[in-house]
Amino acid sequence: MDPLVAAIDQGTSSTRFLVFNAKTAEVISQHQVEINQSFPKEGWVEEDPKEIMQSVYECMERTCEKLCERNIDVSNIKAVGVTNQRETTLVWDKETGEPLYNAIVWLDLRTQSTVERLINKAPEINKNHLKHKTGLPISTYFSAVKLRWLLDNVDEVAQAVMSERAMFGTVDSWIIWCLTGGRNGGVHCTDVSNASRTMLFNIHTMDWDPELCRYFDVPMEILPKVRSSSEIYGYMKSTSLAGVPISGCLGDQSAALVGQMCFKEGQAKNTYGTGCFLLRHTGTKPVMSDHGLLTTVAYKMGKDEPACYALEGSVAIAGAVVRWLKDNMGIVKSSSEIETLAAAAGSSYGCYFVPAFSGLYAPYWEPSARGIICGLTQFTNRNHLAFAALEAVCFQTREILDAMNQDSGVPLTQLKVDGGMTANRLLMQLQADILCIPVVRPTMSETTALGAAMAAGAAEGVEVWNLSPDHLPHVTSEKYEPQINLEESEFRFARWKKAVQKAMNWET
Ligand code: G3P
Repeated sequence: MDPLVAAIDQGTSSTRFLVFNAKTAEVISQHQVEINQSFPKEGWVEEDPKEIMQSVYECMERTCEKLCERNIDVSNIKAVGVTNQRETTLVWDKETGEPLYNAIVWLDLRTQSTVERLINKAPEINKNHLKHKTGLPISTYFSAVKLRWLLDNVDEVAQAVMSERAMFGTVDSWIIWCLTGGRNGGVHCTDVSNASRTMLFNIHTMDWDPELCRYFDVPMEILPKVRSSSEIYGYMKSTSLAGVPISGCLGDQSAALVGQMCFKEGQAKNTYGTGCFLLRHTGTKPVMSDHGLLTTVAYKMGKDEPACYALEGSVAIAGAVVRWLKDNMGIVKSSSEIETLAAAAGSSYGCYFVPAFSGLYAPYWEPSARGIICGLTQFTNRNHLAFAALEAVCFQTREILDAMNQDSGVPLTQLKVDGGMTANRLLMQLQADILCIPVVRPTMSETTALGAAMAAGAAEGVEVWNLSPDHLPHVTSEKYEPQINLEESEFRFARWKKAVQKAMNWET
């Protein structure tokens, strides 16, 4: 049998475990478990680190059972890759193995005043004060401010730091540490793509930066070791996969870039998950944005390989708006129902919905923005709201694409897309209409997990997956061509921009 490679995909809303054929990239088996989010106060978003690990174990064990039921020997799995929601911040006790607080999720807004304080501390009072080293603006989004909050507000964390028992990590670090033995010798590491989202990592030297750590007053001893995205970090302990190397690690957006085979400068993809993230490969040199995009490390495929960078447009709320319509408003019963409702409306009839639930990320970086729905009439019903919610995802992508085109000077002529929401055909058509370029969706939608599996399978010492262009798996795709005229598209987009201004200035 062909060798198999597995991937753990730990996202904001769910965890998955997928097993791929390393020759064909075909999904052989998989399992998925939803993750609970808690909102203890307005703007706060937390997840339970133990539940995250439980979901990882459950997905792995169920997938292995499914393989056994089909008489596929799990010993064919030669490596495991990890891909994860980025920026989400954890601190745990290395002696007890216990988390010292819930994971603070990337969307969380509790650090708004911390961010203001840190910006005011910059000589020129500028949110881009650390951008030359990190590629990022000072924002609630990144891990350093969340870690600062934990150090200031959670006694257990401060005490564990004092007694040298604290370990900090993003979700990848937590998963790898637990799977490689936890308090009995677990490996405390992260990869360059995840490290580049903390604001403590220098994207030029490719290491933790003492000056950045001083800025945030973060003790360097609690940071994980930074490794490449494709190398053996350690071996699985005590699961059905005990002894299998963990040899791939990528933040989920980097993994999707790899899974979409975007290995060359200029190639780009947009992933629609809880949020929505457009990354464009910029080669081996970091490119700084003048239009509100982030500069991020895309991946480094081996210890001795060069790092590759990307420009990124991050949108905080995409799939999360559908979850909000379902869980908070009861407007849809299931996420898939939104397509039916929106299709019944056929248009938003002048209704615009800016879901700035966590402020606005790229290109505005305005934490005080809040969600608004405007243009309502007595005619407006839930179908129109559903349509406006889908349109919001597309308009936000359009804003990012415009910024990306301005930064690079070379407009994208089509957009590769992936992620759960791309199953929504109406959304895909709307996206093509609003961007005025074709949108291309792979028929194999698990590109994020595929990217992590590719990194794991290609690692030195594993080598069951070859990343050279001649050996890349062929994935078929489906294309959506724009169907409305440019004038109409521009008119709708101009209206959206007005609504965004209202969301940013809703208090005045
Ligand atoms: O930066 C946050 C991102 O990594 C989360 O991705 O797929 O959970 O929306 P997702």
